[in-house]
Amino acid sequence: MPAADDLIRDLLALEGAFATEVASLASEGDIRAAQARFLGKKGRVSDLMKSLGSLPGPERPRVGEVANRVKQLIETETQKRLGALVDLARRRDLERVVDVTLPGREQPLGRLHILTQVRRELVDIFRELGFEVADGPQVETDFYNFEALAMPADHPARDAQDTFYVASAAGTPGVLLRTHTSSVQIRTMETRKPPIKIVAPGVVYRRDDDATHSPMFSQLELLVVEEGARMSDLKGVILHFVHRFFGPKLVIRFRASYFPFVEPGAEVDMQCCFCGGSGCRLCKQTGWIELGGSGMVDPRVFTACGIDPEKYTGYAFGFGIERMAMLRHGINDIKHYYEGDMRFLRQF
Ligand code: DAH
Repeated sequence: MPAADDLIRDLLALEGAFATEVASLASEGDIRAAQARFLGKKGRVSDLMKSLGSLPGPERPRVGEVANRVKQLIETETQKRLGALVDLARRRDLERVVDVTLPGREQPLGRLHILTQVRRELVDIFRELGFEVADGPQVETDFYNFEALAMPADHPARDAQDTFYVASAAGTPGVLLRTHTSSVQIRTMETRKPPIKIVAPGVVYRRDDDATHSPMFSQLELLVVEEGARMSDLKGVILHFVHRFFGPKLVIRFRASYFPFVEPGAEVDMQCCFCGGSGCRLCKQTGWIELGGSGMVDPRVFTACGIDPEKYTGYAFGFGIERMAMLRHGINDIKHYYEGDMRFLRQF
């Protein structure tokens, strides 16, 4: 047999050998390595082609043509095998068994803390009346917590609010944890022009600890400053709030009281929501429940904040949020809010 035909037969045999070899391979890496063993620079096809030079010139193109066809076929076979691998992986993925009868994993649902719920509800009641929400720092200066609210140093009203002072490394005196949200009144009036109509919910701190007092609790402060604000407006706002939050028919009353930053000042009571006013344990047989402090903004406070007391009048109201929630839900100890006992918290 002439040498050219031998070479052609060997080349064609390579194609079959490649197909057999690659048929048993199951990874892309192995398939590509096999391809290199046949088509690479030192591969089996190149090996055979080394003898091309010893053939007579006219024979060479015929052999070269076959070599090219064999290379092409090996390349096609490689792509076919790689494609089959991808198909197989895809099919396995689709066939993965999903047991739809297995019970799902429970996602425990949390809920908002009762105080958060009540705070949001309170804020919403006032927001519907057009109040904006204001905020201030919990670490406050003596100026905003006392001084600007007409409680200078040595003022006896300071004793009623036993204060946590913050020790300052720099020796700056008068840094404290705010004892009430009334400090936000000052911060708001200082930075904004009337008309002002805000509520400021927030955490406050006092050295106080028993069933109805906690060293850390929250208040909601309300402040309106505008031309012609009157005490009857204050009464209307509080009455609306009591009716929305506690019940539609409840009566309120003002009891003259003293807070340095309002004049006149009053404590607000509502008819006891437990006994309807006939007297019970919760209202200590008085028929009334105390809600908070209120009054008309003292002109001195306006002056301290740069607001003209001849032009503007204002009213304010402040109360404890824990207390409101205790009254609404009949909670008898303020500590329940903070202990994290799920048996208590889950009730709301
Ligand atoms: N800040 C007072 C306190 O915590 C409560 C209070 C009294 C707030 C009178 C007011 C007010 O806005 O007008 O004891």
